Amino acid sequence: MIRTPVLVGLGAMVPPRVVDNEELSQRLDTDDHWIRTRTGITRRHWAGPGTATGDLAVTAAQRALRSAGGGPVDMLILATSTPDHPMPATAPGVAARLGLGPIAAFDISVACAGFVYALATAAGAIAAGIAERVVVVGADIWSTRLDPQDRTTAVIFGDGAGAVVLRAGEPDEPGALAGFDLGGDGTFKDLALVPGGGSRGRSEPDGAGEADDYVTMHGKEIFTHAVHRMAESSAQLLKKIGWSASDIDWVAAHQANVRILHTVAGLLKVDRARVLVHLDRVGNTSAASIPLALTDAAAGGRLAPGQRVLMTAFGGGLSWGSAAMTWPPIQVSDVVS
Ligand code: ACO
Repeated sequence: MIRTPVLVGLGAMVPPRVVDNEELSQRLDTDDHWIRTRTGITRRHWAGPGTATGDLAVTAAQRALRSAGGGPVDMLILATSTPDHPMPATAPGVAARLGLGPIAAFDISVACAGFVYALATAAGAIAAGIAERVVVVGADIWSTRLDPQDRTTAVIFGDGAGAVVLRAGEPDEPGALAGFDLGGDGTFKDLALVPGGGSRGRSEPDGAGEADDYVTMHGKEIFTHAVHRMAESSAQLLKKIGWSASDIDWVAAHQANVRILHTVAGLLKVDRARVLVHLDRVGNTSAASIPLALTDAAAGGRLAPGQRVLMTAFGGGLSWGSAAMTWPPIQVSDVVS
């Protein structure tokens, strides 16, 4: 019999410092009206000096474990593209600080699609009998990779972390993950890129400069790919698991731009009111965005046990993925912003 991954815990956090549109308008050629109407974002949280991705991941995971009622864990997967160091991975240090013992812990780097990929990897490990109980964290601090002069990226990204706990269970339990669809297309790898910090920088004749540590993004092209890939991936997953659009109670899509969310809803023929929106308060938190949006909705009492939730994400790579589940009877009390 195939063991089914079941979600039993959820938690999230954002760093305390709020950066609103007004603050960005004071130092960049932008304004609150443009940012709100073109992205839906009103504010975001940025980590201060001394705070790293692993710090946010620890707090989010602690909250998810508390929501799950504690218990042993035998694997931790951290989705991040802004790790504490190039080496080692950030996950083992997070697991150590959580006191989880000598468990398997590793990072997955799939930009904004990272949480869905990590969830699928955890689900596979549980189904294969490699793990019984897995913590999956999505955490990113993109504020350290923003070019202070680039208004196109500075207004979008926020920092944060979200985590879930999965355990082995039965397919008909509320909280059961019903299926996944994953995809990618590396021919468009340059559309969202941090040029420096990797072996490619050294192999090129001019070497990497300081600016190569900043993220560059072709927003318009990413937008077009994002809406089509998230809609297609969602549709393929629904077909695979035998759900129709009318079965979906909530869509938890990667929070990059409210216009992307509305376009995906239209393509899927799902009412916009069924799409969770959290980016207005936190911006694009990359690998953290789906568990943050779920935490926000669960803490606000919008997610009820047994409801059907579709998650879909898209990011640099290009990479995309979708996951489907029924909502579990869990307690989530963290108000994240
Ligand atoms: N303030 C004011 N004007 C701006 C700003 C700004 N912050 N940013 C761009 N503009 C200007 C442009 O210069 C352009 O001016 P022009 O017409 O005079 O040339 C105009 O606004 C329109 O620019 P567009 O790039 O066409 O703006 P668009 O409506 O596409 O919005 C945005 C840009 C918000 C970036 C949008 O394209 C988007 O959200 N893209 C998706 C981003 C995304 O999903 N990223 C996640 C992947 S990254 C990762 O995985 C880590």
